[in-house]
Amino acid sequence: MDLTELRGKYIEAVAKAADESSLEEVRLAALGKKGEISLLMATLGKMSPEERKSQGAALNVLKTEIDAALRAKKQGLADAALNERLKSEWLDVTLTSRPRPMGTIHPVSQVMDELTAIFADMGFSVAEGPQVESDWYNFDALNIPPEHPARQEHDTFFMHRAEGDDRPPHVLRTHTSPVQIRAMTEKGAPIRVIAPGRVYRMDMDQTHTPMFHQVEGLCIDRDISMANLKWVLEEFCRAFFEVDKVELRFRASHFPFTEPSAEVDIRYSNVGGQLRIGEGDKWMEILGSGMVHPKVLQAAGVDPNEWQGFAFGVGIDRITMLKYGIPDLRSFFEGDLRWLRHYGFSALNMPDLPGGLSR
Ligand code: PHE
Repeated sequence: MDLTELRGKYIEAVAKAADESSLEEVRLAALGKKGEISLLMATLGKMSPEERKSQGAALNVLKTEIDAALRAKKQGLADAALNERLKSEWLDVTLTSRPRPMGTIHPVSQVMDELTAIFADMGFSVAEGPQVESDWYNFDALNIPPEHPARQEHDTFFMHRAEGDDRPPHVLRTHTSPVQIRAMTEKGAPIRVIAPGRVYRMDMDQTHTPMFHQVEGLCIDRDISMANLKWVLEEFCRAFFEVDKVELRFRASHFPFTEPSAEVDIRYSNVGGQLRIGEGDKWMEILGSGMVHPKVLQAAGVDPNEWQGFAFGVGIDRITMLKYGIPDLRSFFEGDLRWLRHYGFSALNMPDLPGGLSR
């Protein structure tokens, strides 16, 4: 029996099979019950023992070889079929939906723009100061000397000084009040400024984050009084919250840099996590304020015998939560895109009073 020809025939047939069904035909023709090789196997019984031994071994080798070729080809065809399918079912997940979504303005930035619009209308300009502030601006100039207990209440972050440098370390400003000093030193009196910006304190829970935002207000002239302060704050709240009725509660308080001092709470309700302003039985503290202390004026080079006025510091994040009904302060700083899309504002609408603050 010459098996070489047989071998060549089937190896070629396997190679040529273009799909699984023609490959199956090849398998049946060679190794099926009535296949050529199976039939040859059946003839072994009629052979002499010596012949059977040599022919049987050769046939087995051929059978194994063709079987292996069939399996390999079958795997190859299956891989090719899968690749074909993957190609036709391919989906470009990087394709953006149309119209292309835009980024949004963070509610805190939006509120800073709203504040600026409201106070600009009342004759206030915007002042700025650094976030890494000297100990003197953050504390001493504001009548908080080194041993003053108020320093402890500020949970201050301190910067490092070089080894051997004994000057007091700089701090991450704990409030925007140092901008009062910077603005008065630079511009003198009379002056009317607000200073919105970031401040830092070591504190973290549902209503406190280590970085948050304040807006400082400062108004110095010859005869500015507490009454002016009250009017400005009430007018600001009415404009800001865009409601006819806001209820403020002035509580006597103490700050080293104002005398007298008052903290102001605003009435709100929390119905199922929805915050509403001007109704309900809850009060949220939103700002500290008072008449600027003569020592503060002095530190900034303004003569307290000639000038006086008020200052206030509003928690921007808090009034943002109240106005836009956002229950958890920490969510402001998580950078969650779904949150930003939900609470963010259009980049193309700049808030102004005639056009409406929050469109
Ligand atoms: N700086 C004060 C604070 O952070 C707020 C304040 C500002 C109080 C101006 C009075 C006057 O708590």
